[in-house]
Amino acid sequence: MTDRKPYSSPELQSLPGGPLSRPPLDCRRPEPISKIAGHDVRDLVERFGSPVYVIDDEKMRAQYRRMIGAFRASWPDTFIGTSVKTNYLSCMVATMREEGAWGEVVSGFEYRLCRDLGIPGNEIIFNGPWKTDDDIRTAFAEGAVVNLDGDDELERVIAIANDMGKEVGVGLRLNMQLNYPPWDKFGFKLENDHALEAARIIAREPNLRLDGLHMHVGTYLPDPALYGRAMSQVVSLALRLERELDAEMKYLDLGGGYATRNTLHDTMLPGEAQSATPEAYAEAVTRPLRQAVSQFKGSPRLFIEPGRILVDESASIITTVRAVKHMAGGQKAALLDAGVHILPTAYWYDHEIRPVEDRGATMENYRMVGPLCMQIDVIRKEINLPALSRDDLLVIENVGAYNFSQSIQFIYMRPAYVMAHANGVDVVRLPEEDDYVRSQERLPSHLINDETRNSVLVRDVT
Ligand SMILES: Cc1ncc(COP(=O)(O)O)c(C=O)c1O
Repeated sequence: MTDRKPYSSPELQSLPGGPLSRPPLDCRRPEPISKIAGHDVRDLVERFGSPVYVIDDEKMRAQYRRMIGAFRASWPDTFIGTSVKTNYLSCMVATMREEGAWGEVVSGFEYRLCRDLGIPGNEIIFNGPWKTDDDIRTAFAEGAVVNLDGDDELERVIAIANDMGKEVGVGLRLNMQLNYPPWDKFGFKLENDHALEAARIIAREPNLRLDGLHMHVGTYLPDPALYGRAMSQVVSLALRLERELDAEMKYLDLGGGYATRNTLHDTMLPGEAQSATPEAYAEAVTRPLRQAVSQFKGSPRLFIEPGRILVDESASIITTVRAVKHMAGGQKAALLDAGVHILPTAYWYDHEIRPVEDRGATMENYRMVGPLCMQIDVIRKEINLPALSRDDLLVIENVGAYNFSQSIQFIYMRPAYVMAHANGVDVVRLPEEDDYVRSQERLPSHLINDETRNSVLVRDVT
């Protein structure tokens, strides 16, 4: 008899990095960066503190011009509705406006922000799954493009239009099966004729007019072919509505979602290698329109609503290494003063981070963590950088989209936001102070006692 080992079930062990993980993005040495928009990084920190969020005005304008240029080259009647929620710092919206953009909004707050910056109502596109009656009335009164999201909203809009006693134009937001997971929280479904039925209802209403169709395919979509497929279906439905319902499509709106060079966690390729150019997106979106041009009653205007592709690459955060530590597994961690409260996109991107000092070619592996007293405050799970020490400055690039509008005050205040341009640097949002956080609070009377009597909150109330 041979000695046999008793059977034990096999164990799965993960290999470091995992068999399917992408090779480290940072095999190349990240180039040191000493200036942003021509301004010295160290000077910016000296003037505005660390961390500081820096917007490069010229870079943003150049990207806008490239995007609109690419689309107008193949469909001259194209307008950009800049997606306000992507970054609703007023300076961003005002810059886009100076370049010729309309505003694309999804709430009354964003609508009023655009109006406050001088954008007329009839150059605002109003989307979103929930719009209040008051906001819808204002939008109709001022001639905004209003895209409806569902049956209940259509019902409310019929009542509002009848109450206003005048004909108003509306668009229908569509959803269709294009990708997985489907982007199906919004709009009227195309495949089961839900959208067609909604259009028929509008055609029967004396005070409603169907002016256009809207489709937002999803967000961060590197493949232009997806846009081509979406546009083909939008065009087919638009032509059918013109034929069957005596409608005339004044516009087709293909939303946003155009990807940037940022890299999503767990993707095989870095973002810069897989995201398409504005020209490739323009070709994909406009081709179905050009092919059908002679079949339309008029010539529909094309709206696009880019967000991230316009603003992502124009902003950076300068941050300081506040400590270098070793974690339990031996990996080094650099503790930065910028956390996920001002950089929420770190939850889904591996942001590019560059040193300011040139510290040579020897690289070390770091986890980049933020200053919040939370284990989840991780800016990069892993990155190779030349050796870091306390007080080193770093620049986190491509942070213009969704970081300000989704930032929160949590543990630390939000820092200064500045805009750098050829003539200088302007503060566009002051750093928050304690008062900012507490100003909306009130101390209820049963908590006012000898200890709390002198609190600013009590003085506020009395
Ligand atoms: C209706 C609509 N348009 C435009 C955008 C902008 O998207 P992105 O920033 O991905 O271009 C969004 C964002 O989700 C959206 O919901």
